[in-house]
Amino acid sequence: MSNIDPRIIVALDYADQKQALEFIQRTSPELCKLKVGNELFTRSGPGFVASLVDKGFDVFLDLKFHDIPNTVRQSVYAAGQLGVWMVNVHALGGCSMLEAAREGVEMIGVNRPYLIAVSLLTSMSAPGLQQLGIEQEPQAYVERLAQLAINSGLDGLVCSAREAKGLRAKFGDAPLLVTPGIRPEGTASDDQQRIATPSQAIADGASYLVIGRPVTRHPDPSEALLSINASLSN
Ligand code: C5P
Repeated sequence: MSNIDPRIIVALDYADQKQALEFIQRTSPELCKLKVGNELFTRSGPGFVASLVDKGFDVFLDLKFHDIPNTVRQSVYAAGQLGVWMVNVHALGGCSMLEAAREGVEMIGVNRPYLIAVSLLTSMSAPGLQQLGIEQEPQAYVERLAQLAINSGLDGLVCSAREAKGLRAKFGDAPLLVTPGIRPEGTASDDQQRIATPSQAIADGASYLVIGRPVTRHPDPSEALLSINASLSN
């Protein structure tokens, strides 16, 4: 883990590690943390993740585990053994699964990663919930899942910045709130529905911002990252 604690986690949603490495070579652990998701992990595997940790980056391994408790416990343990900074599971797996995930990170010992729960994907909005037969508004639904995750001993949540304020009011300062769906002023929302700007997200209580395409698809990704970091220090 690096000594300073950048707020931006860049989502390395690249098709292969060559493209990811081009970006990594032009940044540093002082400027951002890195998130490896399903696409890159499936192509490049645990060795690649461990190589990012060796370069000094805090790595969020975003594999969103959602399975029976025993499988999730062992998967979280295996993820933690890579030396990553953060891992996650789906809150929808329920209390037994969340508690098993917590046991899995604790098996790592004192240098265990943070364990957070995905509440509701930021690509989902109220109509998407209704299609699943869930009549609650996103805010109420996220708060319900947050309560479950916190009761099960998790360190925090993945949520949209739009829910961060309500979650802080309800659960206080302790939970880590990691917010994707971040779009600097004037950038495309892509497939994200519940979005916020970087400075809005921090003002509303986000702990860390997950940012993918606004950085990785920018013609000059390093410049995009510097400019977002600068917008946060104003
Ligand atoms: O490119 P963009 O900034 O939209 O990337 C957001 C990243 O955050 C993606 O890697 C996506 O998988 C992840 N994510 C998300 N919503 C969640 C959890 C993770 O968008 N609820």
